[in-house]
Amino acid sequence: MILLDNVTKYYPGDTEPVLDNVTLHIQPKEFVFLVGESGAGKSTLIKMLTREEKPTSGKIMVGGIDYDYLRKRHIPHLRRRIGVVFQDLKLLPNRTVFENVAFALEIVGVSNAEIRRTVPKVLDLVGLADKGDKFPDDLSGGQRQRVAIARSMARQPKILIADEPTGNLDPKISAGIMRLLEEINNFGTTILVTTHDVNIVNQMRRRVVTIQDGKIIGDQKSNGHYYLDAERANIAKRPLATSDYRSTVEEIRAATNSPRSNAHAAAQRQAEAKATAQKPAKPTTPRKRIIQ
Ligand SMILES: Nc1ncnc2c1ncn2[C@@H]1O[C@H](COP(=O)(O)OP(=O)(O)OP(=O)(O)O)[C@@H](O)[C@H]1O
Ligand SMILES: [Mg+2]
Repeated sequence: MILLDNVTKYYPGDTEPVLDNVTLHIQPKEFVFLVGESGAGKSTLIKMLTREEKPTSGKIMVGGIDYDYLRKRHIPHLRRRIGVVFQDLKLLPNRTVFENVAFALEIVGVSNAEIRRTVPKVLDLVGLADKGDKFPDDLSGGQRQRVAIARSMARQPKILIADEPTGNLDPKISAGIMRLLEEINNFGTTILVTTHDVNIVNQMRRRVVTIQDGKIIGDQKSNGHYYLDAERANIAKRPLATSDYRSTVEEIRAATNSPRSNAHAAAQRQAEAKATAQKPAKPTTPRKRIIQ
């Protein structure tokens, strides 16, 4: 569903990469924390997924869309699949809560009738059914965060990405935001959350990916903890399971099935060759591979 393959990013004029050969696969319906120190590259990684920034090299696919073939006209389609809660929220101060959520639908051409139906449902989901007429400045920090989540959910994306959704919130409010994200995840939405919140990560016990100086130094696939050092962040690291590489190939196939060109076919052959190379010689010993 989300696939970064050897992604490297230099910002213009930089001599050091901000992302350095990042490879990350996230399956549909997973709930993943991305942790790392300030400046480690978390928001930049997210900007790769939302196409706010382009990688200098490497491959990105999200929900079957291969970014190598992404044209400007495809971006609205991409934005329907990915809901983003930005680190700085980006709420419109002169619009009401209702209008802030409605705006996310207006810009992708949803009819007024559908907007009137959808917005109250989404506000209800985030516990703000009675705040539609308020302006962002009239709300608490936790409520503003909920508006941002409501706006990102309005288009019913398959993937929700939240960049520091609990930054500056007190522990009780943070726990409420996390419960909301958990609920959204239970509906089947894939969730990727960046955070500095040790308590939240250690309470939730989900997959935890750790990034340091632009490199992924740990990937605890389940029951993860907040560790920023490579040794402990890697405790649950294990080789790619067979099912992971299969879905990777399937995603690439789905994406390259659209209007065929030589470039599409070549990308597919290359991906398949890579997947075959990753495949263990003896597929009859899956247990061993997972335990390693
Ligand atoms: N648009 C940009 N142009 C140049 N450099 C940038 C840009 N955005 C980020 N950087 C640099 O890239 C590095 C990673 O930034 P990024 O925002 O991805 O970090 P982060 O892990 O999200 O940090 P934080 O936890 O503080 O949000 C930093 O050194 C930052 O200064
Ligand atoms: Mg950031």
